[in-house]
Amino acid sequence: MIARGAGEIIMQHFAAPIPTTLKSSRTDIVTAADTEAEAYVVRELLARFPHHHIVGEEGGGQGAPAVSAPYHWFVDPIDGTVNFASKLPHFCTSIALATPDREPLLGVVFDPTRGELFTAVYGAGAFLNGQPIRVTQTAELIDAVVTSGFPYDKQTNPDNNLKEWTAFLTRIRGERRLGSAALDLSYVGAGRLDGYWEKDLKPWDVMAGMLIAREAGGTVTDYQGDSHPQRLDRGRYVASNGKLHHEMLQVLQSV
Ligand code: IPD
Ligand code: CA
Ligand code: CA
Repeated sequence: MIARGAGEIIMQHFAAPIPTTLKSSRTDIVTAADTEAEAYVVRELLARFPHHHIVGEEGGGQGAPAVSAPYHWFVDPIDGTVNFASKLPHFCTSIALATPDREPLLGVVFDPTRGELFTAVYGAGAFLNGQPIRVTQTAELIDAVVTSGFPYDKQTNPDNNLKEWTAFLTRIRGERRLGSAALDLSYVGAGRLDGYWEKDLKPWDVMAGMLIAREAGGTVTDYQGDSHPQRLDRGRYVASNGKLHHEMLQVLQSV
């Protein structure tokens, strides 16, 4: 299993000092573990599927050309790099297979710190370590625990999710910022969170997690209720158990 192999590489780095390099801003970082784990995943995928296109967060488009490939893979070697580099054990590897128009077919999210493997196949359900998972039954936002995240340009962009965060704060039981979009979505699927929203997510952040949340009975859309946010390179996502979706959209549209 390729995601487990990536997890082994990541955990070797996690046990040692973790030097970081800056990407788009002081808060956007990358480590040797990100690049090594991605190179490993891409190598393993291409050995099995040489005619597929692979989009990796660190390495960009690889493998067969996007225009001619029958399938596209989306790889986030470490989702939650800020946690990883801080030695905070909450991060994962996210791997998804999708159609060329970005409809997810297969999603794999592996948390190597807990040994938790979330998987989903389109139309065939979602699983945690092989056991079926299901979203919560929470029917009202005031009883809900939700999570979110903030974009890397939060220091300079006024549209940095603070208004949305504040709007939710007074309407819910608990609001969290866990630091891994793929795990946030998987946790909605696993019934550990009732909902999640975030802007500026890239396809590799979400493609696997959104399928896991949906196959577990959840709903994933953009802030307007459109169910294809992944068609944008930087999309806005709201995920819920379904029952809370309308209320979450109302909050997001109220700010
Ligand atoms: C980030 C994490 C984080 C989210 C950011 C993502 P990365 O991915 O998923 O939770 O808030 O928007 O970019 O950079 O750790 O792969
Ligand atoms: Ca990510
Ligand atoms: Ca990443």
